Amino acid sequence: MNDAVYPHSWTREGFLGDAAVTLRPHPITEYTEVVGTHAPHRIDITAIKTVDASDPAELPTVFAHSRNDLTFSVSARSEPTPFVWRNAEYDEVHFVQDGEFEYVTDWGTLEVRPGDFVFLPRAASYRVVPTTPSTLRVIIETPEPIALNPEALRGMVNTARDVHRPDATRTSQASGETTLLIRATDGITRFTMEQDPLAMTSMVAGQAPVWKINLADIQAVAYLPHGGPPTHFAETPTKDLLLYPASSRPGGRPPQHHNADYDELLFYFRGPAPYGGLTEPGSTVWIPKAVAHRGPEENVEGGFMAWLVESGGTLRLTPEGLGAAVLMETSLFHPLHDGDTA
Ligand SMILES: [Fe+2]
Repeated sequence: MNDAVYPHSWTREGFLGDAAVTLRPHPITEYTEVVGTHAPHRIDITAIKTVDASDPAELPTVFAHSRNDLTFSVSARSEPTPFVWRNAEYDEVHFVQDGEFEYVTDWGTLEVRPGDFVFLPRAASYRVVPTTPSTLRVIIETPEPIALNPEALRGMVNTARDVHRPDATRTSQASGETTLLIRATDGITRFTMEQDPLAMTSMVAGQAPVWKINLADIQAVAYLPHGGPPTHFAETPTKDLLLYPASSRPGGRPPQHHNADYDELLFYFRGPAPYGGLTEPGSTVWIPKAVAHRGPEENVEGGFMAWLVESGGTLRLTPEGLGAAVLMETSLFHPLHDGDTA
């Protein structure tokens, strides 16, 4: 392809629907100034002021939410939760950026490490016990159930080998009066329980609905030699929320993109190689829907690990998110203004 033309793809339904591909005579991603709320940002999730880092009784800090009621939070907890948590109206997905944990659940204990996605459906109860001095997690809440994309079972995910559930032989050892927090859309309701509700004698039917998979164990889809669009590994029924592996793939640099139906939230987990302007673990990119962008080169020496959220509901950053964010150019994902860092 001639270097003097710039490919551009307009896509419907994320990467699942119609596409219109063109060549343009100059980049359509470049801009010098932006004013308004629908502007691309870099967010440093390690710089978000997390209240649960210093007070174990606090909850994760919300940094973004969507019009369709998705919530994105960060937690930097270093002490065990002094309560049992149960979400009444949202499924949760936790991504472990840093640190290790034991999740003590209704169905036993799940050990969790960096790169793990932990799936916790509605009405699953758990306590989180960090086993390293510092931790960092991204927590997504969705009003819809989230599950593996059935298409992912054709080769992206080996469920027998790589999907892990709690060890039912390691049940909660807590006893006595227990605080139980139940989260609903209008806030937290606090119960004082006479006994630990997580205590379990045995599991007699079914399987634990809590499970995890590591980002490194999700095989990315590529269409050689050009690369092609990514494929999601988890989805909600209306596809309002889609999760993708976005680690370095073989193939060429993607085209410029107008994503007609989704905001993109891209999390750089770690290198060794950079992903365009992203070099630090925890660097995160928000590209609002309909804003032109061009993903940086993915096929880089040494590789990197990243993951992508597509949100059907338009996203907005909270004051806490904006406090750790700067405006971004949308070609290599550098800060828009020299000297800014996020
Ligand atoms: Fe895109």
